[in-house]
Amino acid sequence: MIDLTTKYLGFTLKNPIIASASPITNSLDGVKRLEDNGIAAVVLHSLFEEQINHEQRMLNHFLYKENDSYAEALEYFPSDMQFDNLDSEHYLEFVSTVKKSVNIPVIASLNGVSDIGWAKYGLKLQEAGADALELNITYIPTSIDMRGDEVENMYINTVRNLKQHISIPLNVKMNSYFSNPANMAKRLVDAGANGLTLFDNPISVDIDLETLTSIQKANLTISKDKSESLRWCAILFNKLEADLCINTGIKTGEDILKAMMSGASSVALASVLLEKGEKYLGTILFDMEKWMVEHEYESIKQMIGSISLHHTDNPSAYERNSYIKALHNFKI
Ligand SMILES: Cc1cc2nc3c(=O)[nH]c(=O)nc-3n(C[C@H](O)[C@H](O)[C@H](O)COP(=O)(O)O)c2cc1C
Repeated sequence: MIDLTTKYLGFTLKNPIIASASPITNSLDGVKRLEDNGIAAVVLHSLFEEQINHEQRMLNHFLYKENDSYAEALEYFPSDMQFDNLDSEHYLEFVSTVKKSVNIPVIASLNGVSDIGWAKYGLKLQEAGADALELNITYIPTSIDMRGDEVENMYINTVRNLKQHISIPLNVKMNSYFSNPANMAKRLVDAGANGLTLFDNPISVDIDLETLTSIQKANLTISKDKSESLRWCAILFNKLEADLCINTGIKTGEDILKAMMSGASSVALASVLLEKGEKYLGTILFDMEKWMVEHEYESIKQMIGSISLHHTDNPSAYERNSYIKALHNFKI
């Protein structure tokens, strides 16, 4: 009997597969179908800082509508912007309903960048029944005067502020846009993160030559896209007081085994569930177990971090050496 259990954010998960925030986790039905097909935990679709603040601005606008200064704030938030998920009050109800309806850990997701105001929603989400919170900070600095340390401090302050409002575990979904993502990971953990998801998949940018407009799009990923997550997970394994979850490009049972070997204790999946449906979880779990039986593994825990840089005397030299070898050995 293969033991697929793993630990994440203080929970014992029945297997390492978490549903990442996506349109599937935006409905109770979607979450239930995921649970029925074997998912170990779910991250709900995000509540965005802009949704919370937009409601606040709208309220202020109606309370103080003589004051013109709110007009600009309202204009700044495009009137045609529509969220396909729920507003903040409905989101709280949604968390509460999901929590009462399933038996797996329910992780609510906040998506924001500033360290003011909206973070108190962390407590509301906790009170609504969320078992943990995931914070997705996605900020594209467009000012050439903004230094890297200013961007980093913004992230840290947001985590610190949110952590002050909650007592449930906090997971931070990171991106890799830092000079040293490993140091950033350490700082996020020092600021209060109990888990790190490596990494969010960036929204792609393109230009539509017909309409001459810029287009930003959420993309489905392929297995190869997990490369950066594997790299940094292998570097971070056993260096932080936090659990690591690999996200982006985890599409198959084999991808999950690789994620575990590089040091993750869980993986978060969105694209494959959107493409193939929740039933495909059965195939993924079957493939994982089959590989483990064939290679005489008894448990997931046994393989976590087995191919990380933890076992390397000089990780920097190893990385440099591997890089040079990869270029020298290239063949068409
Ligand atoms: C249509 C779509 C909607 C998403 N919505 C959210 C969201 O609300 N919050 C969030 O943190 N990530 C969101 N994501 C990102 C996914 O949770 C995930 O991080 C990303 O797709 C990479 O994982 P994957 O390779 O398994 O797709 C979304 C992704 C897609 C494709």
